[in-house]
Amino acid sequence: MQSSVRKELWADLVNIIEGYLDENSDKSTPVVEYMKGTELKKVLDLNLSDDACSYTDLLNEIKTYLKYSTRTGHPQFNNQLNGGFNFESMVGEIISYLGNATMATFEVAPVATLMESKLVEEINSIIGYNDGDGIMLTGGSNANLMAIHCARERMFPEMKNTGNNGKQLCVFVSADAHYSHKKAMMLMGLGIDNLVLVETDEQGRMLASDLDLKIEQTKELGKIPLMVCSTVGTTVLGAFDPLTKINTVTKKHNLWHHVDGAWGGAVMFSSKYKYLLEGISETDSYTFDAHKLMGSGLITSFFTTKHKTILAESNSGGGGAYIFHEYENAEFDTGRKSIQCGRKVDALKFWLLWKAKGHKGFEAYVNEQYDKRDYLLSLIDESKNLKLIRDPEFLNVCFQVIPEDKSVDINQFNYELRYKIVKEGKILTNFSRFEDGTVFFRHVFANNITQKEDLKHLVDTLVNSSFSSH
Ligand SMILES: Cc1ncc(COP(=O)(O)O)c(C=O)c1O
Repeated sequence: MQSSVRKELWADLVNIIEGYLDENSDKSTPVVEYMKGTELKKVLDLNLSDDACSYTDLLNEIKTYLKYSTRTGHPQFNNQLNGGFNFESMVGEIISYLGNATMATFEVAPVATLMESKLVEEINSIIGYNDGDGIMLTGGSNANLMAIHCARERMFPEMKNTGNNGKQLCVFVSADAHYSHKKAMMLMGLGIDNLVLVETDEQGRMLASDLDLKIEQTKELGKIPLMVCSTVGTTVLGAFDPLTKINTVTKKHNLWHHVDGAWGGAVMFSSKYKYLLEGISETDSYTFDAHKLMGSGLITSFFTTKHKTILAESNSGGGGAYIFHEYENAEFDTGRKSIQCGRKVDALKFWLLWKAKGHKGFEAYVNEQYDKRDYLLSLIDESKNLKLIRDPEFLNVCFQVIPEDKSVDINQFNYELRYKIVKEGKILTNFSRFEDGTVFFRHVFANNITQKEDLKHLVDTLVNSSFSSH
């Protein structure tokens, strides 16, 4: 592209971005222009042609993309564990593409390598992994996979070459743990049947007593317990497994203890709520997604461990002939510790955010999210039309709207109400379902843009919509 055209496009782009961000803060803007996939396909021009498109067409592509995409930076987007918008993170995304480095070697990504390494060091220092290691990777799911990979390396280093040798290696998670553990078991060749689900208490926290029992039962079956994964901040209820109690069990059986803090790990930034991670310094490894609660751009995931050499031991294999040269900066190369070769620079998004906010800003933000949660809880408490499903330990508020007509099935009512609201496009908040069929709204506070007035609007909309429609 010629530099004059590029400059023109750039100026137009700034206007489009600014306009988009202004629209996000305008309450009348829908979160999404809801359409069925088949309808959207017709609206979009999804043809790729032989000829280059015009400059105007290119701009229209960008506008169309933004028009029909879900606005996760909208105050009424509280659907997923990521949301909101941070300007610094957007800048990090753009600037990292300017260099477009791959993180495999220091040679190609010198600054990003050192920034990533500092982020890992800082996280490890906060949670008490002294002299540990870590790496950024493509999501919390993959960080959980990496934990099993490292645990197996520690117990059976030969399996890297031989495979699992017919051994049945078991991983233990709570029944409320994220589905990524199932995928990890498939991918590691351990099998979903060897993922043992441990019972939880009423709040959704793993029961250490049942963990101990299940480990013993597994041994009796001739299987080999390999790793326990605690979750701090479960996906639906936001429960924190009791790390100290679980440490006692993992130490007794000499098992790797991984902590999935993809969602709730961010409490590490708050001196008020950090107590929820008590015992973490005694564990072996940790998943943390800065793109969830902290609002860094997707994907900003970390796997960190207190074992300095385990990542390199688990992942190194090949590449020496053409990419990992012995030279004076070889010690900084991260490629040997990763399952990827090409790896995007994700560190800058979180680096700029952390720089811009500082430790104090991060702490204040986490505390503010709790403050907003408490406000929503008070609205639920005051309303005769809303019912809290669980007292939340964290930033997941699970509640039902109670139908006026008591003969109506409450679960079907909440399910239909949620889709009615989504289709109107004004609010995108998710729902979940217990095994017993209970359907409820699950509102998560991952969005830094959402304010108390938006929560009031959410509650009013749910209540008003339900009574105007039934
Ligand atoms: C507790 C927990 N762990 C892991 C993950 C997976 O993270 P990612 O979406 O970054 O793969 C999630 C996603 O919601 C989660 O809630």
